[in-house]
Amino acid sequence: MDDLLKNVTWHQGGTDRLVQEKLKGHRSRVFWLTGLSGSGKSSVAAELERRLFQQSIHTTTLDGDNLRHGLNSDLGFSPEARKENIRRLGEVARLFTEAGIVVIVASISPFQADRDRARALFADDEFIEVYLSCPLEVCEQRDPKGLYKKARLGEIAEFTGISSPYEVPLHPELKIQTDHMPVTKAVDCILAYMAALEKVDSHEK
Ligand code: ADX
Repeated sequence: MDDLLKNVTWHQGGTDRLVQEKLKGHRSRVFWLTGLSGSGKSSVAAELERRLFQQSIHTTTLDGDNLRHGLNSDLGFSPEARKENIRRLGEVARLFTEAGIVVIVASISPFQADRDRARALFADDEFIEVYLSCPLEVCEQRDPKGLYKKARLGEIAEFTGISSPYEVPLHPELKIQTDHMPVTKAVDCILAYMAALEKVDSHEK
């Protein structure tokens, strides 16, 4: 990699993150939602984005499925492809945080090492890993896209939870059991966590 960067120069932009955050009126952060397919990531992300919008917070959502229609359309589901998928999500999230925006990532992101690599791009209080915990049986029963059924029939290879592993997060900032909690309550938990971080920020000022 170093060799590839040998003739590439880093250019400083016309603003920086602090200025951008000041303009937006809030800190930028990343809420990284991880969990099995069907655990509620996209629903929680959508409700979280709606609620942040009501608070005049500037957001964007990077949804794994959606990004696979564009930026990541060249990637499959092997461990290497997922690693690259998560690397790109992390890098894009970083660009948005530099612009003062709160980023919601909704991606299975099944491997701890890949999530850790994304986390390493951010300061400690900027990256909030939210584990949406839900038993495989429940996700499979929900099967909102009919993919578990296909995976069981052998029509989808390397399907997370069936024929490809999901590594439970070791130290997530938040663990939310979505089989026991409606989406609105899950979002309440995330917003409460954010409010607590902001309280710390205001004390430090
Ligand atoms: S990740 O594992 O690389 O983080 P990502 O979140 O981008 O996955 O995409 C997962 C989505 O792709 C699922 O929600 C599902 O709709 C779809 N999908 C298609 N094939 C697979 C598969 N083999 N494993 C998991 N999800 C799959």
